[in-house]
Amino acid sequence: MRVGVLTGGGDSPGLNPAIRAVTRRCIAEYDDHVLGIKNGWDGLVNGDVEPLSLYSVSGILPKGGTILGTSRHNPLHQEDNIQRIMQNIRRYELDAVVVIGGDDAFLVAEKLAECGLKYIGIPKTIDNDLGGTDMTFGFDTAVAVATDAIDRLHTTAEAHHRVIVVEVMGRLTGWIAVTAGIAGGADCILIPEVPFTMDETCDMLTKRHKHGKNFSIVVVAEGAYPKEMGKLYSKTGKVDEYGHLVLGGIGEVIAKQIEEHTGMETRTVVLGLLQRGGSPTPYDRVLATRCGVHAADLVHQQKFGYMSALRGTEIVEFKVSEALRLPRAVDQKLYQVASVFFG
Ligand code: F6P
Repeated sequence: MRVGVLTGGGDSPGLNPAIRAVTRRCIAEYDDHVLGIKNGWDGLVNGDVEPLSLYSVSGILPKGGTILGTSRHNPLHQEDNIQRIMQNIRRYELDAVVVIGGDDAFLVAEKLAECGLKYIGIPKTIDNDLGGTDMTFGFDTAVAVATDAIDRLHTTAEAHHRVIVVEVMGRLTGWIAVTAGIAGGADCILIPEVPFTMDETCDMLTKRHKHGKNFSIVVVAEGAYPKEMGKLYSKTGKVDEYGHLVLGGIGEVIAKQIEEHTGMETRTVVLGLLQRGGSPTPYDRVLATRCGVHAADLVHQQKFGYMSALRGTEIVEFKVSEALRLPRAVDQKLYQVASVFFG
């Protein structure tokens, strides 16, 4: 078979291990021709592809980013793009495309499937919010980065008797905030799934300080906002090609209110893209590798429209259209564990 591979949307540590695994399995087990599609869907719109060999994917396992490049461009924005993509699929005689992406890339894949694209999905996002899978690769690395940051911020917060608000990624869900918050011993965690007010938050911090703790670490997911604000916060107000508000800046807003209401000196740290960069953790390398091998097998079983998902400890097939129905919210029990340590 001739199999294309692309990485779409925001990068996520583990993309290279997944590309390597798909390529190796396709060539070594099935004698396929594998083509790397450059820069997400752009590569199919523009016919920008390159052959992948055992040689070209050798040594990429520990590397962050993606050797194929990625983009957040939505090809459906321009009417003739669907036609161009399908023409290039025919031109390169692609029997199937492995789409390594999140909800945006999969929405496009589903639309193209209606026009004849045969695709298999591999789910990725550091936000860990995709349905149908228990965990996406990239998340573990992001949590490791955020935990390390919280550890470092603890010592400086304690030294200066300050409140430090750490803003982490998590557009719709607070998986990174809660998991890194537990691992790093956060004193307060604010996430989109759990409504909060600034009064409650400030009261909790004031009480904590009255009980002798003269510093605090508050972790906030970028998609969280206080009830009184009523909507997502974006410093830039920009919207991307998939219609998502470009988030970022809520940490600063919250820090300002904490300082005003409690009188405690407060600082903000936005971790931003640091959480997406760098070498994947061993866990993410293994998860991405398992998904890549499984996805190559799904191509040959012709399970088009399915993705390789983690369920418990097994990698299984799961229908992408179902995975897209709902973002996977933070487990309330996990949040309850985190809240035992608040205040
Ligand atoms: O990949 C998802 C995500 O990490 C979101 O949490 C965040 O809002 C977004 O990416 C930011 O990505 P970019 O800076 O590439 O627009």
